[in-house]
Amino acid sequence: MTARIVVLASGNGSNFQALIDASISGDGSLDASVVGLVCNRAKALALVRASRAAVPAVLLTRLDGEHREAYDARLADVVAEMAPDIVVLAGWMRLLSMAFLEHFPQRVINLHPALPGQFPGTHAIERALESAQRSGIDHTGVMVHYVPGEGVDDGPVIETASVVIHPDDTVDTLSARVHAAERLTLLSALRRVIANGPPLA
Ligand code: GAR
Repeated sequence: MTARIVVLASGNGSNFQALIDASISGDGSLDASVVGLVCNRAKALALVRASRAAVPAVLLTRLDGEHREAYDARLADVVAEMAPDIVVLAGWMRLLSMAFLEHFPQRVINLHPALPGQFPGTHAIERALESAQRSGIDHTGVMVHYVPGEGVDDGPVIETASVVIHPDDTVDTLSARVHAAERLTLLSALRRVIANGPPLA
């Protein structure tokens, strides 16, 4: 059965685009349908991508003074309406609380541009490059993991990929390699989840 994917994104949406492209490619590369986007920033390019691809999109911004849990409960209602099998956080730059997560147990997965336990949070690629220049690490990576709770870029790992850091790398050159690895890893992780289902609770 074709999996229904809902994407949460805050910005550029290039990984959202990769999912749209793979799901409509017709080559069977992803047995999934991207049935919706929820975005929390009005100016996000992800919204333009959704409109171009005719993917239903909802802009859901946090109201002035709105509690985090209240926003997350509204978000859960919007996402539940889209009836997802899998919710993909692809550049969703807000920490989700249990007010959202409890509605989608073992169904929320997150993409992060670093290896497990390394550089959680924002600017992971920049921090990996700084670390390489300071202390000589020679690789970083990407990961896709389940989001069972409120940890930052933390949870049972579905797939990782290593990305080499060259001595002459800049943020741009390293970002390009990390982003290329992200697209492949995200698609591969989703194929795995679709084929095997979620881990047992
Ligand atoms: C991606 O690199 C994703 O891994 C990262 O945001 C970028 C979104 O790019 N997510 C995180 O850093 C989560 N902590 P995109 O909007 O072009 O898909």
